Amino acid sequence: MTTRSAMVGFGGYLPERVVTNDELSERFDTSDEWIRARTGIRQRHIASEQDTAVSMATRAAERALTFAGIAPKDVDAVIVATATPDQAFPSTAVRVLHQLGVAHGFGFDVSAACCGFIYALSSADAFIRSGQARTILVIGSEVYSRILDWSDRGTAVLFGDGAGAVVLRATDGDGSTGLIGTHLHADGSTGDLLYVDGAVGRREHPGHLRMSGRDVFRHAVAKLSSSVDEALDSAGLTYADVSWLVPHQANIRIIEAVARKLQMPIERVVVTVERHANTSAASIPLALDEAVRDGRIQRGDLVLMEALGGGLTWGSALARI
Ligand code: COA
Repeated sequence: MTTRSAMVGFGGYLPERVVTNDELSERFDTSDEWIRARTGIRQRHIASEQDTAVSMATRAAERALTFAGIAPKDVDAVIVATATPDQAFPSTAVRVLHQLGVAHGFGFDVSAACCGFIYALSSADAFIRSGQARTILVIGSEVYSRILDWSDRGTAVLFGDGAGAVVLRATDGDGSTGLIGTHLHADGSTGDLLYVDGAVGRREHPGHLRMSGRDVFRHAVAKLSSSVDEALDSAGLTYADVSWLVPHQANIRIIEAVARKLQMPIERVVVTVERHANTSAASIPLALDEAVRDGRIQRGDLVLMEALGGGLTWGSALARI
């Protein structure tokens, strides 16, 4: 018998306010045409003053628990991937534990930018396999609208806010469902290609997102392509075995390039970037939530997830749902 982590609950939260490309083009020199052609993005959700990483993570978590039919008291841990926490500490995760009414267990935040959900999922999987926890909420929650430089059209058009959550639960079965493997990477020598130029430990607090778009694009296509190969090779599977690609949603051109590499028709790729833009660590769990709820992803499907973010950090996760 093998202990594996199965994804048994999915939830998402998007702020009510939708900002279209046309609305952005009233603020600075850009156009719907430019944004759609370069990125595939049509609109993004932007947080209200009340929306924060904690509040959005809590909403997404509640929905994921309801989906799974699991009570908060049965949650052993919360891991939140975020680059935009409400506070330096307590962590977003510990605040979420409290909001959910969980009086035991443990929680912490993961900082791996847009790859944060893959890092958080991999960590949660390790806790479950080692027997330290049986039920873990893995959440990505981001309010990038608060770290964008709204005078920089090169980055301001790319991001949106939101949260997504997955309930990961130990299954003691024949190993036919659950997470098959995760692979994580980081290369600090590329840290200046995509970064935030401040934080609470710096005088420039809170800082703004800075990016060399072309370089990030190039790294993303190369590293994500090798990531999907690595995920399948190590599992002894091939492109043809994959039911759904659920990529980080940064840019439709990056998504299409990786899908081509997998010889995967775009119909088998879960795409939300046109409506959500890049919600960083929230983008994969939001996409999973959408595709499970609308019936595209079914039990038994093989799902391949991949992401790249500031660091650079990148990685993949392969799961049988
Ligand atoms: N509207 C209109 N024009 C814009 C613009 C905008 N929002 N943003 C940049 N431009 C202009 C630039 O100023 C530049 O003009 P110039 O040639 O007169 O100097 C021109 O468009 C081309 O800029 P460039 O940055 O070279 O464009 P690009 O083809 O590389 O596309 C990105 C820019 C950001 C869309 C693209 O590089 C990209 O998607 N990179 C990956 C970003 C990403 O996904 N990051 C997150 C990873 S987690």
